[in-house]
Amino acid sequence: MAASATSKLLVSDIASVVDHVPSNYVRPISDRPNMSEVETSGETIPLIDLQDLHGPNRADIINQFAHACSSYGFFQIKNHGVPEETIKRMMNSERVKHYSADTKKTTRLSTSFNVCKEKVSNWRDFLRLHCYPIEDFINEWPSTPLSFREVTAEYATSVRALVLTLLEAISESLGLPKDRVSKTLGKHGQHMAINYYPPCPQPELTYGLPGHKDANLITVLLQDDVSGLQVFKDDKWVAVKPVPNTFIVNLGDQMQVISNDKYKSVLHRAVVNSDKERISIPTFYCPSEDAVISPAQELINEEEDSPAIYRSFTYAEYFEKFWDTAFATESCVDSFKASTN
Ligand code: OGA
Ligand code: NI
Repeated sequence: MAASATSKLLVSDIASVVDHVPSNYVRPISDRPNMSEVETSGETIPLIDLQDLHGPNRADIINQFAHACSSYGFFQIKNHGVPEETIKRMMNSERVKHYSADTKKTTRLSTSFNVCKEKVSNWRDFLRLHCYPIEDFINEWPSTPLSFREVTAEYATSVRALVLTLLEAISESLGLPKDRVSKTLGKHGQHMAINYYPPCPQPELTYGLPGHKDANLITVLLQDDVSGLQVFKDDKWVAVKPVPNTFIVNLGDQMQVISNDKYKSVLHRAVVNSDKERISIPTFYCPSEDAVISPAQELINEEEDSPAIYRSFTYAEYFEKFWDTAFATESCVDSFKASTN
């Protein structure tokens, strides 16, 4: 491990020995979680049951997708087909140390978001892996504990099958052929993070992750039973309560581009708390790096005043820009708008 890489501590290394948040984690007063203004009861995100997706009620479920995607961009799913045992084994897998600040590395353990670019640190450590195609990456994954690769490969494969089902439903909900979205993704890509949020002595001063939108196409989040995720909806932050045996799904920037703004990538964040650690495992499904992304032709109509809102770009270009801006702007996607002149 290079000396520069070891000079940055993980939050896990400091959480149990400090009784104050170190100053580099403290947010300015105007940018703090402000929990008293967060909606914690009442309206939450839609729940879609996939049980009937392949039966006679498909049209009804597709309508639920259309509604959830256009008015929330966030939903929960149950009867998702990922075996409970697979989920349990993934959740219990131990984190291992592969620290690297290099955002181009395909397997790395790191902290915060992008330690090279950001001004304030976040109360999060994460292991990030690429996991499709599995055989290209599995040899870089941590090899201890012994079961890690097997458990993670099984989980990644199962979640990928779920994502392909979701993409068909979402494609149909946009009025497109069901393989349309999937076909825009080149060879496809899948990344996973294992997020670890240690207990924090002053959770009101900092974030696990500040407000951001995911750069990828669609995110499938597995989380334990500790709250922390919040979604920005109708000008306020709404806490998403964990529901056992469901996944949280949110749309990312690539879905916004492909749907030409019919569906939006949604602002969300993670807060921490003083007494419980929290683990979340997002799967970031994305185009392959060489895929050229642009609004779907069928959704563009120059005469009827729905021109292409975004220019085309490779996902490699987008992904680099995303890590570079390090949440400095809330919306990376704005810088890929088609020129209006
Ligand atoms: C993310 C993310 C939310 C959470 O990793 O992009 O939004 O609850 N995580 O950990
Ligand atoms: Ni996110």
